[in-house]
Amino acid sequence: MHIRIATDAGACFGVNRALDMVQKLSKTTHGSIHTLGPLIHNPTVVSKLANQGVQPIASADEVAGDALVLRTHGVTPDEEARAYKSHTVVLDATCPFVIRAHKAAQTFEREGYQVLVFGEKGHPEVIATLGYAKNSICVECPEDLDTITLKRKVGVVVQTTQTRERLRAVIAALVGRVDELRLIDTICGATTKRQRACASLSAQVDCMLVIGGKMSANTCHLAEIAAEYCTQVHHIELASELEPSWFTPSSRVGITAGASTPQYQIDEVVAALRALDSEFAAAAAPQTTAPD
Ligand code: F3S
Repeated sequence: MHIRIATDAGACFGVNRALDMVQKLSKTTHGSIHTLGPLIHNPTVVSKLANQGVQPIASADEVAGDALVLRTHGVTPDEEARAYKSHTVVLDATCPFVIRAHKAAQTFEREGYQVLVFGEKGHPEVIATLGYAKNSICVECPEDLDTITLKRKVGVVVQTTQTRERLRAVIAALVGRVDELRLIDTICGATTKRQRACASLSAQVDCMLVIGGKMSANTCHLAEIAAEYCTQVHHIELASELEPSWFTPSSRVGITAGASTPQYQIDEVVAALRALDSEFAAAAAPQTTAPD
């Protein structure tokens, strides 16, 4: 089996930063630590944090406590205000690239643009960005534009983990329908690099493994991109989900991982593949029979 890992894969700057912040906080705080929603979209990491006493809560009103960490995807200004009322210490782990999208939405609104947030409806990051511009609207696909009364001046900001291909489709659909169109492209560099590396590797392998949370938007996009270039793509969260039937001894296997997947989860998958490869080799080795 030939195993290759995409040149850009796994935990990004924003996720590593948030995890570091929580680790430091847990060493210095003796009281309760909550995160507002899951800190990142990776159930394994979130449950590991819960075992260390860092519990996610759905809203700041749910429970009062000592320390509250605002998740990587960001929260609305209203949620943030409630966080300061219910907890003594509030630590903002919102990724700086997500904050850039919040500021872009605020700028457009201040300058009189109708704000469109291109992204996944109901995703926490999109909900947070919508909170920064009162009359902003989420647009998920070009067809959504048919359901909106577009104003003369439209400003578009983008969920950080979207693909540029989808963004182009929405922008193309807006051209000719408004007098003034402005875009602040808030797709983050980590996302773009992982998507490019995924596409390139997927075209060179027989089987592509995409590691990351099933609820993680950027991981799901990687799986979609991989499927454009490779006929066999599996989106897994853990090494234990690997099925031997997916591979042969000569399989060329590619691995990528979402921005919320820590390195150790990639290492576990690689180790499991190597173990499987050894089993293939043992099964193929000529059997020696003991003399009578
Ligand atoms: Fe931030 Fe980009 Fe990661 S927005 S959380 S660095 S995917």
